[in-house]
Amino acid sequence: MQIVILKDASEVARYGADIFTSQLQRKAESVLGLATGSTPVALYQELIKRNQTGMVTFKETTTFNLDEYLGLSGEHPQSYRYFMNEQLFNHIDIDKDRTHVPPGDAKNPVIACQEYEAKIASAGGVDIQLLGIGRNGHIGFNEPSSGLTSRTRVKTLTKATIDDNARFFKEDEYQPHLSITMGIGTILDARKVVLLATGENKAEAVKAMVEGPLTAACPASALQLHKYAVIVIDMAAASQLK
Ligand code: F6R
Repeated sequence: MQIVILKDASEVARYGADIFTSQLQRKAESVLGLATGSTPVALYQELIKRNQTGMVTFKETTTFNLDEYLGLSGEHPQSYRYFMNEQLFNHIDIDKDRTHVPPGDAKNPVIACQEYEAKIASAGGVDIQLLGIGRNGHIGFNEPSSGLTSRTRVKTLTKATIDDNARFFKEDEYQPHLSITMGIGTILDARKVVLLATGENKAEAVKAMVEGPLTAACPASALQLHKYAVIVIDMAAASQLK
C-alpha cells in the first residue's frame, strides 16, 4: 500500500485526477472502475475540466461502477446510474454504451451479478479502480463481514451505511436496504486501486484499513493484499495514523 497524505480535499481530488489522467494518456482505451458518493465528486469535476480543455479524452474508455441500489432503475434520481450521468458521463466525451453500472432493476439479480462479472472479464478486466471508504470500512457496498474473495453479488446494507446515506434521500423517500456490489475479490482483480478518503469522520476507518489486521471486519483492509494500491487522504483522514 502506498499512502499519500495531502493537505485537504481539493489536493486529494487533484492528485486522484492526475492518476486517472496519466492512465488515460498512456492508454486511451483503459477500463476504469468508478465509485459514487461525495468523495469522488471533486475528482470528477477535475476530469470534466480536463476533458473539456482537451487534456484527456474518454472516447475509447470503458467504465464499470462498483455498485447500485437494488430496486432503483437508472432513471431514478437516487440511483447510482443517475448520479454517474449527472456527475460525470453527461459532461465528457464518453460513449455511454461503454459505461456500466450494475442494473438495480434486474429481474433476476443473481444472474445480473454473474453477467456483470462476465462483462468486466470480456472488457479485459479493470485497469484502475477508484474507491471511497465507508465509516465502517466498507468498499463498494462490501459491508463488514464480507468475504475477502467475494464476487459481484446482492448485499444487504448495514444500519450504519443506511444512516450515513440517508442524507441523500428526502425524509419520506424510499431508501433501499439492498444493493448489487462488486465483491472484494472483484475489486482486488483490478490492476491498480486508488482509494480516496477525506475528513475526520473517515480517520478511524483509514487507520483500520492501513494499520489494522487483515480482517473481514474492515473490508478495506483487503487492500493490504493488493500489489498496487494507492491510498490518497487528507490530513484529517490521516489524523489517527501512527
Ligand atoms: C460508492 C461506494 C461507497 C462509498 C463510501 C464512501 O459507490 O462504493 O463505498 O465510496 O460509502 O462514501 P462517501 O464518499 O459519500 O463518504
